Amino acid sequence: MNTEIPSPARIYDLWLGGKDNYEVDRVVSAQILQAVPELPILAKTNREFLGRAVRYMAAEAGIRQFLDIGTGIPTADNTHQVAQSVSADCKVVYVDNDPVVLAHARALLRASGQGDTWFIDSDLRDPDKIIAATGEYLDFSQPIGLMLLGVVDFLTDGDRPKEIIQRLMEPMVSGSHLAISHGLVGKQLEEGVRSWNESGGSPMTLRTHEELTGLFDGLELLEPGVVALPRWRPTPETLYAEREAVYHAGVGRKP
Ligand SMILES: C[S@@+](CC[C@H](N)C(=O)[O-])C[C@H]1O[C@@H](n2cnc3c(N)ncnc32)[C@H](O)[C@@H]1O
Repeated sequence: MNTEIPSPARIYDLWLGGKDNYEVDRVVSAQILQAVPELPILAKTNREFLGRAVRYMAAEAGIRQFLDIGTGIPTADNTHQVAQSVSADCKVVYVDNDPVVLAHARALLRASGQGDTWFIDSDLRDPDKIIAATGEYLDFSQPIGLMLLGVVDFLTDGDRPKEIIQRLMEPMVSGSHLAISHGLVGKQLEEGVRSWNESGGSPMTLRTHEELTGLFDGLELLEPGVVALPRWRPTPETLYAEREAVYHAGVGRKP
C-alpha cells in the first residue's frame, strides 16, 4: 500500500470522523480545509443523501439490488445497511479501486449478519469489467440501483464520464435507478480542488449543473431534479446550510 500518495477515500473518511489515515492524508486534508473549511459538513450531507436515495429506491421504487461504485471506507449507514433495513433480502455489490477500502470492506464482510453483500476491486473507468463481475452476484433481469456518489468527480473529461455511465446503465432493465452526487464548478470548491490536484492524488474535475444534469440523459430525472444535496427530498433531520449548495445530487429512473 502506498502511504506517500494521499487517498481520497482516507481523507473523506477523516472528515467523517474515521481513523484510517496517514500523515500524507492529514497534511493534504489541512491544506484543502484551509480553502474549503466546510468540507466535513459536506461529507456528512453527502452521506445523508446516500441514506435518503437508497431508502427511496428500496422502500418506494421496490429495488432489491444495488451497485455502489466508489464505495469509500465503510462508515455508518452504508448502502447495504440502509437497503437491508428496508428489506433484508436486498443485495449489494460494492466497487472501489483503493486497497484501503478493499481491506476494510473485507473485514466488514467477514463480520456476521451483513446479508448478501459483496466487494469488487475495480475501476469506474472499466465499466465492462464491473458489469461482468457484478453479473456473478446481481440479476440483470431485475432492476438495480446504481450509486455513483462522490466518485464521478474523479473522472476527467477525457475519461468520458457520460459514456461510462451510459455503458453501466445499458444492461439494466426498466425501473433501474441511478443516483449521482458531484461537486459544482464555482469559486467555493475550486481552490480546494486545485490544492487536492497538486497533491499527486487522483485528479478531480468539477462540473456545471448543466453537465451534471446531462449525465442523466435517457433517464427520467426524479423530482426535484439535480439540486444541492440537502434539497433532495429532505427529512426534518436533514442538515442544511446555504454554503453546502456547492455539491449537487440527483436520482434518475430508467424508463
Ligand atoms: C469521496 S469518496 C465517496 C464515498 C462514498 N461513495 C460516499 O459518497 O460516501 C470517493 C471514493 O471513490 C473511490 N474512487 C475514486 N476514483 C475511483 C475510480 N476511478 N474507480 C473506483 N473507485 C474510485 C475512492 O477510492 C473513494 O473511496
